[in-house]
Amino acid sequence: MKFFIDTASLSQIREAQDLGVLDGVTTNPSLMAKEGITGTDNILKHYVEICNIVDGDVSAEVIATDYAGMISEGENLAALHPNIVVKVPMTRDGVKAIKYFTSKGIKTNCTLVFSAGQALLAAKAGASYVSPFIGRLDDISTDGIQLIDQIRTIYDNYGYGTEILAASVRHPMHIIQCAEVGADVATCPLSAITALFEHPLTTLGLEKFLADHRKAGQQSVKA
Ligand code: E4P
Repeated sequence: MKFFIDTASLSQIREAQDLGVLDGVTTNPSLMAKEGITGTDNILKHYVEICNIVDGDVSAEVIATDYAGMISEGENLAALHPNIVVKVPMTRDGVKAIKYFTSKGIKTNCTLVFSAGQALLAAKAGASYVSPFIGRLDDISTDGIQLIDQIRTIYDNYGYGTEILAASVRHPMHIIQCAEVGADVATCPLSAITALFEHPLTTLGLEKFLADHRKAGQQSVKA
């Protein structure tokens, strides 16, 4: 399973890249706003900076909601860097735009997906990625992981090449569960990725190994 980081923060992207396990980045308009990135020129420059840090797909979301607007914005975004994936919302115009981008060889990420039916439409339009938002489903007492499982079954039934990109991941158990049900990608906050490193027995075990090593060294000096 690929690990993407879900942020527009350059420092967090660098930190995740340094871990050696990062495969890509997803952003959205809220994440860009959180970093204070505003104005078209700054936003476009920011995407290029992200692409220069990470060697992998970088999702850049269109703001337009009409077909013509999405096409023109998406083509500009795709021209920025070969790793840009145009992120398009799951709407009627969005699905048409995905179909258009696919025919032009432009990679797409269909975002704001909350049902298997929406995921089926995204795959039929040829989306490179589909983004089911599992955390937001959990928030309304609906099982987000179950949706990933359902989409996996549907895509495998028909051999759809669209990659399932689990989004709105909130914690390390989401990542494990995504891997169990066969998501292709999980896009995560940095904190969820770094939490995977932690286990108290690893910490204790390492302390013990090093203490024993030091003790043996002192004994051999005395001897
Ligand atoms: C997906 O690409 C979105 O950026 C993201 O995962 C949304 O997550 P949230 O529900 O934590 O805002």
